[in-house]
Amino acid sequence: MATAATLSDLGPRDFLGETDVLLAIYADAMDAEAALLPGRRELMRRHAGYPAFKALLAKDAAADPGSGGGQVLGFTYGFRGQPGQWWYDAVQSALDLAIGPALTASWLADCLEVAEVHVRKDQQRRGTGTRLLMALTDGRTERTALLSTPDRDTTARRLYRRMGFCDLLTGYSFPGGSPPYAVMGAVLPLRDRVVAASLPRSASPRA
Ligand SMILES: CC(C)(COP(=O)(O)OP(=O)(O)OC[C@H]1O[C@@H](n2cnc3c(N)ncnc32)[C@H](O)[C@@H]1OP(=O)(O)O)[C@@H](O)C(=O)NCCC(=O)NCCS
Repeated sequence: MATAATLSDLGPRDFLGETDVLLAIYADAMDAEAALLPGRRELMRRHAGYPAFKALLAKDAAADPGSGGGQVLGFTYGFRGQPGQWWYDAVQSALDLAIGPALTASWLADCLEVAEVHVRKDQQRRGTGTRLLMALTDGRTERTALLSTPDRDTTARRLYRRMGFCDLLTGYSFPGGSPPYAVMGAVLPLRDRVVAASLPRSASPRA
């Protein structure tokens, strides 16, 4: 049965301490093969050392308060994007070609990379993903938020659009080969659905 969730911040050290739990949620939400998890673990370890790293857990709010908290239902994390990071460099090169260096710089120069957001399958469609993303971006000093997501009509893609993200690049394969991804960007703070729907779509964060 799905339950209400409480959100809590996780510093880099605690985030690494929860890696097994987070990987289990990732595997469940993404239907990820077990063989992919060691690589994902290493990536999370690296990401935890990136600047202005922030992670949030969604936990079962119905748990006994004396029990140290309930089961983890979902998580998200992100950090400040900067040159030298694999994702940042790949996206910068691709965006340079697609929308030109000036627009690329305006998106990337001061950006939060939203690296992951996952909610356990049996806990989805309760607003937890939306709350995680809002909390991750809340109070950030960066001007923009960027992310990549499979270039399909998924729950995640709809969630991002609803919160004000627009497509900067579609059909993009990351170096080394990957299924097609969309790179999406939003100007912070994220907007709610009603406001976003009334604004013109543009690839410029200054619009
Ligand atoms: C993307 C993801 C994190 C969203 O988490 P979530 O908790 O389901 O997100 P929300 O509940 O806020 O919103 C999801 C949907 O539920 C709907 N919803 C939210 N609260 C609801 C409620 N109380 N009753 C019914 N529907 C509800 C939303 O309108 C949204 O609908 P849509 O898919 O038609 O747009 C989750 O689907 C997931 O983990 N997916 C797999 C992993 C993944 O793709 N991660 C992102 C990789 S880039």
